[in-house]
Amino acid sequence: MNPIFETATLAHTAVTSQPGSGANSVLTDADFSSAFEEISQWPGYAPTTLHQLPTLSRTLGVGQIFYKDEGTRFGLGSFKALGGAYAALKILQRELSSAAGRTVPMAEIRNGSMAKQAGGITLVSATDGNHGRSLAWGANNFGAQCRIYIHREVSTSRANAIAELGAEVIRVNGDYDMSVHEARREANENGWFAVSDTSWEGYTEPPKNVMSGYGVMIDELAQQMPQAPTHLFIQGGVGGLAAAVSARLRQHYGNAFRAVVVEPELAACLLASASSGAPTAVPIHEETLMAGLSCGEPSALAWQILQHEVSDFMSIPESLVAPTMRLLAKPVGNDPAIVGGESAVCGMAGMIASCRQPTLRSALNLNADSKVLFIGSEGATDPDIYASLVA
Ligand SMILES: Cc1ncc(COP(=O)(O)O)c(C=O)c1O
Repeated sequence: MNPIFETATLAHTAVTSQPGSGANSVLTDADFSSAFEEISQWPGYAPTTLHQLPTLSRTLGVGQIFYKDEGTRFGLGSFKALGGAYAALKILQRELSSAAGRTVPMAEIRNGSMAKQAGGITLVSATDGNHGRSLAWGANNFGAQCRIYIHREVSTSRANAIAELGAEVIRVNGDYDMSVHEARREANENGWFAVSDTSWEGYTEPPKNVMSGYGVMIDELAQQMPQAPTHLFIQGGVGGLAAAVSARLRQHYGNAFRAVVVEPELAACLLASASSGAPTAVPIHEETLMAGLSCGEPSALAWQILQHEVSDFMSIPESLVAPTMRLLAKPVGNDPAIVGGESAVCGMAGMIASCRQPTLRSALNLNADSKVLFIGSEGATDPDIYASLVA
């Protein structure tokens, strides 16, 4: 194995968590179940694969490694397909119901019978790629207009993938957080509806629905993995993914597992929040390779869950990204070959390095009985970047 995992410097903060006490605070069983019921009826729906990596587990001295591969989700390349499109549908349902003076069932919007009315509604969001693609796809499916704001570093290939779904793409000359503010400002000025994956004061319903949609992964997992994991290593951007996954895992499996959030050191706002005890923004001085995780401001809504459900926050250097992608792409032994994009491998990079560094290994209680779960949150969402990193 690449010696970089032994020598890389990782930051780690352990907090006194209260597993279980945040799991139902923001997202209830009913929120997650309704999202599953709806999304599992969408055309093209299929549960994603849960891989096992026995050779890598043996190499690292842990019991089992499970990797839920979201690269195939609805043909959009990432788990984000579950969130933005579902939140869009909920906004359309609310607005169309209010205009029609009756509760419009989601099925009517889903099957296109409200497309004409939906065409008068514009949905907007900022994105570093994947969320915007999900929203553009949802808007396209349901007949709504869509505007997606991207920051200056979003790759052309990611921008094109969004435009191909019919959305208007607006490039903002700033970082991700600036694109969030711009989308919000223009939405307010024009009567458009923001469908954001992050919350702000007075704005919680869409990000809550986005997170409810993410729960689909764990409802599938509960069928695929009868035994609880002992560890979840999950990558963090604004924290919505980690919050939804840890909350729904607790609802299914109870308090047995330890949740570890892993971020790029260039954008470690959740680690900073854990250290200060409250949602804390960090400046982005340089964009991380892990484009989906390049967020300097945590989602306050997600933090309400994370502060109770997550016991460890860590950050990794950029140097671990490509070696981890290659390890998945060209596995040892009989492990399956997996296409894991830059942002998808962050949790695994943190776990591998922790296994190779005795102090972290013991701090995180990683041992031969550990059953470690990863959410492989994207495939090759930018095929050129993927190919160059894996080469
Ligand atoms: C592939 C991928 N993984 C993980 C994340 C992190 O999700 P969140 O911002 O909800 O923490 C993102 C966010 O865009 C992403 O695109």
